Amino acid sequence: MDIVVLAGGLSTERDVSFQSGKRIAAALRRHDHRVILLDVFMGYGEEECDIDDLFARSEEVSVEVGDIPTEAPDLDAVRRMRKDQSANFFGPNVIALCQKADIVFIALHGADGENGKLQATFDLLGVKYTGNGFLPCALAMDKGVAKHFFYYYGIPCPQGFSVKRNGYNREKVLDQTVFPCVVKPAGGGSSVGVTIVHDAEHYEAAIEEAFRYEDEILVEDYIEGREFSVGVLDGVALPVIEIVPKQGFYDYKNKYAAGATDEICPADLDDETTSQMQLYAERVVAALGLQIYSRMDFIVSKDGKIYCLEANTLPGMTPTSLLPQEAETIGIRYSNLCEEIIQLSLERYDD
Ligand SMILES: Nc1ncnc2c1ncn2[C@@H]1O[C@H](COP(=O)(O)OP(=O)(O)O)[C@@H](O)[C@H]1O
Ligand SMILES: [Mg+2]
Repeated sequence: MDIVVLAGGLSTERDVSFQSGKRIAAALRRHDHRVILLDVFMGYGEEECDIDDLFARSEEVSVEVGDIPTEAPDLDAVRRMRKDQSANFFGPNVIALCQKADIVFIALHGADGENGKLQATFDLLGVKYTGNGFLPCALAMDKGVAKHFFYYYGIPCPQGFSVKRNGYNREKVLDQTVFPCVVKPAGGGSSVGVTIVHDAEHYEAAIEEAFRYEDEILVEDYIEGREFSVGVLDGVALPVIEIVPKQGFYDYKNKYAAGATDEICPADLDDETTSQMQLYAERVVAALGLQIYSRMDFIVSKDGKIYCLEANTLPGMTPTSLLPQEAETIGIRYSNLCEEIIQLSLERYDD
């Protein structure tokens, strides 16, 4: 098949996405597909061109990917690098190449790759793509909205509320808050803009930091405990993985600096907690209408209560990312996982 792997984009997870994209492209090439790895924002070439023979030169046309920096990227600098300085999210030739491909593997993470807008655009353009459709992406991306679904479907999650920049009232928000709490952008990812706040003195700075990234933020109870994640592939939960940062919480650096975090799969948990967490992960899938693959983050408090933090509709997809590690534990090798995601996604388009 001719496949475009879309990576990069304009989210704080831009660099992470290139790592996913690079490895997915390599895996799919092993399955004999012609794969073009594209930066969705920079596109291919400086202007629209004849794309007819590009799949025949797929490797040469693909974007080159370096190592992942330990800091989140400067997105204004990325915008300045775009040659045509267009406001179009899609760089030159991206739409045409995606329409020519048999399917697009979306290796984007965060913001406009993961919030459903890209998926909705592709639906309208007749482009087939992997993973979740636009609505589950949109629901999961807004952590405030997702929380309402969690409450309704009996999926335990930290109590919390969202705050909009417009009409933000400092006193009122302070009144509603119990410390310690966690402040985060409503739609962020990779822990960018997330702060654990222990007292009122540090609250304002944390709120400002989260508002740097988005106009809506979430304040929720801080749950002290162990952190886990559960991938769901085709409706079925994978083994639970435990995440143990060597220092501090699971922030950007601990997520991506080599060796900063231990990941243990299958997690050392009793059978009851394991199956309960897997059941909650599958329930999130049903509640939000998730498809193909996704990954839910959890915390288990010291007294053994399970809390769901969020649903990721485009989880990290390098071979050492959490979901691929979980799949590996039950014998699904990385390249087969990528191929299975393609097949499952294509089936959705069968009449
Ligand atoms: N309510 C909470 N209690 C304790 N830690 C939290 C809480 N919310 C977030 N965290 C910490 O912040 C990290 C990122 O939060 P998360 O909601 O998963 O957002 P992201 O989309 O950035 O991954 C989590 O992996 C966890 O370490
Ligand atoms: Mg998370």
